Amino acid sequence: MIPEYKKDYEDNNRQSMLENILFPVRNINEKRLQERVENKTILITGASYGIGAALIPILAEYTVTLLLVARTEERLATLKKSIDDNACNVKIYAADLRDENEISNLLELWKNENINVDIIINNAGKSIYRKLWNSLDRFHDTQRCAATNYTGPVQLILGVLNGLLQKEAHIINVSAINVLLPPAVGWSAYQSSKVAFDQWLKCSEAELKAENISVSSIYLPLVRTRMSMVNENKHGQPAMSKEKAAKLITNYIINRKRRYTPWWFGVVRLSAFIFPGTLYRIQLRQIKKADK
Ligand SMILES: NC(=O)c1ccc[n+]([C@@H]2O[C@H](COP(=O)([O-])OP(=O)(O)OC[C@H]3O[C@@H](n4cnc5c(N)ncnc54)[C@H](OP(=O)(O)O)[C@@H]3O)[C@@H](O)[C@H]2O)c1
Repeated sequence: MIPEYKKDYEDNNRQSMLENILFPVRNINEKRLQERVENKTILITGASYGIGAALIPILAEYTVTLLLVARTEERLATLKKSIDDNACNVKIYAADLRDENEISNLLELWKNENINVDIIINNAGKSIYRKLWNSLDRFHDTQRCAATNYTGPVQLILGVLNGLLQKEAHIINVSAINVLLPPAVGWSAYQSSKVAFDQWLKCSEAELKAENISVSSIYLPLVRTRMSMVNENKHGQPAMSKEKAAKLITNYIINRKRRYTPWWFGVVRLSAFIFPGTLYRIQLRQIKKADK
């Protein structure tokens, strides 16, 4: 059962003036979006909650086929029902991206039904914040993050890649700005798995582009979702609403640019470059202080 105050956090799609300045997102050009997605098959992983679920009503306005993947079947069914009157064709698949067999079955099913994907939105994700000394009996944290955020998505994408050839296909990876920042204490399982997938995709990007498959990596800041609400210390921090994140991703379906980072991110990255080791020293000092 989710406490009411937490629900408010996740469902709050209002943006303060500061959040609007930090995270400006352009309105969607509906005509260009229509040109991009009309009659296309769009796979959204992690479609049951958060950013993935917020993408559904935007894309459902068009004549598209949406393949929605997540573990929670009832949520997917409810979301499908909510867009029943729309022109789109929606197919839901309850699958656990940590399970190799479930992914294989999904790929087999699509092959048998002759389903070929045009746009992949690799969005499913699992995050864990837990410090090292609290993780000694929790190897599974690392395994689960690695499977959800890295190996599962790789298996899925490899399985659909052949179907992406001979058309202007597009892979969008929903990543996080932390991937591009110095390592942070407590985030080892999450950050390493997101970095691993990011690197896998970057290594593959030129080969994909040579076959006319575009790749966009969206490095999001904090977004108000079920994922971030569990960290109460983040509740006071500026965050994007999930609706805004979905709008941003949709704009990348249109413009197919390779990277998104917030406009101020260059300054943050430059500081990390100019002062290497500063974050490490700050973190070490904080840990020692907390231990006293
Ligand atoms: N929220 C943030 O602050 C933030 C910041 C930067 C980047 N991101 C990234 O944004 C993406 C979406 O996250 P969100 O914030 O929208 O989180 P969310 O609300 O928790 O949604 C995560 C989605 O992933 C699905 N999922 C999780 N584990 C899965 C598994 N093993 N197999 C299949 N599906 C699974 C969940 O569905 P089920 O539970 O039904 O399986 C859910 O639909 C993630 O990749 C995350 O890393 C989030």
